[in-house]
Amino acid sequence: MTSAPAGFQVSTFLHVQARGAVKSNDLLSVARCQAARRQRAAARIRMSASDAQSDGQAALQSMIKLMEERAKKNRSDRGWAFMQMATVEEGVPRNRTVVYRGLFENLIMLCTHASSRKVRALQNSNVTEIAWWMSVPRDQFRIQGRVLLVGSEGHVVERTEKGVPAAILSNREMLRAQRAQLWSKLSMPAKAQFFWPGVPGEELHPDWPGEQSTRIMDAHGQDRTSDQKEAREGVAEPECPPAFLLVLVVPEQIDHLNLKTNMRTINGVRVNP
Ligand SMILES: Cc1cc2nc3c(=O)[nH]c(=O)nc-3n(C[C@H](O)[C@H](O)[C@H](O)COP(=O)(O)O)c2cc1C
Repeated sequence: MTSAPAGFQVSTFLHVQARGAVKSNDLLSVARCQAARRQRAAARIRMSASDAQSDGQAALQSMIKLMEERAKKNRSDRGWAFMQMATVEEGVPRNRTVVYRGLFENLIMLCTHASSRKVRALQNSNVTEIAWWMSVPRDQFRIQGRVLLVGSEGHVVERTEKGVPAAILSNREMLRAQRAQLWSKLSMPAKAQFFWPGVPGEELHPDWPGEQSTRIMDAHGQDRTSDQKEAREGVAEPECPPAFLLVLVVPEQIDHLNLKTNMRTINGVRVNP
């Protein structure tokens, strides 16, 4: 039996062979056609990615819109806002669950602790891929992009501005306001985490969970008793601490797969699923 030439789809090869038409010239010309088709498809995807980055990013924006619509449909799932965010740490992939906090200027909003390990990784390479599975509409969105970290007073955390549009970077007041607004929307248990003693991921601090976070939880946690309700009224809301970072992900490529229709698109261009 003749073996298939390199780059030639085995199914096509077998089909041609079954028809008794195995002529090496036929095979080579079919293989060339297939290779050319693959190259054209790859070029279309590359073109759409670069177009989207350079001008109005129309394809990317419509993908973001679609993602937002599907996320709304997914809200009946208790874990609708959990997404997996990967980073690269000295060439090694690292992944963790984070909470989607909405969109801001078409950027994905998250938050994290300034001393966390992912922050150090992002300062060395501010690339990410987020995987978001939405069980209700049966959509997977894989978002590749750049990560901008915004700290106290809206400053950009060192070495996280790469690939971020200048219009975003230059508007420090807007970043400061956005960070403050996100803080104000966090639940008290979420806020208390930013007052835990010690560095995340390192040896357990002897004071953990720490006086300050315990006070916040006692005063502002769930109002189980009337005593706690009274305590809550007397204690001020915690101010946004330096440990709180606004995380903004600038999408560069969105790969969408829907399992109901088996349709897959990359930046709006239909590809094989
Ligand atoms: C359901 C869930 C939601 C989480 N949300 C966040 C989040 O929004 N931000 C965050 O920094 N960590 C979040 N975490 C914790 C991270 O998964 C991770 O353990 C932590 O950020 C430390 O990661 P790092 O060592 O890679 O920095 C969440 C964990 C779970 C299980």
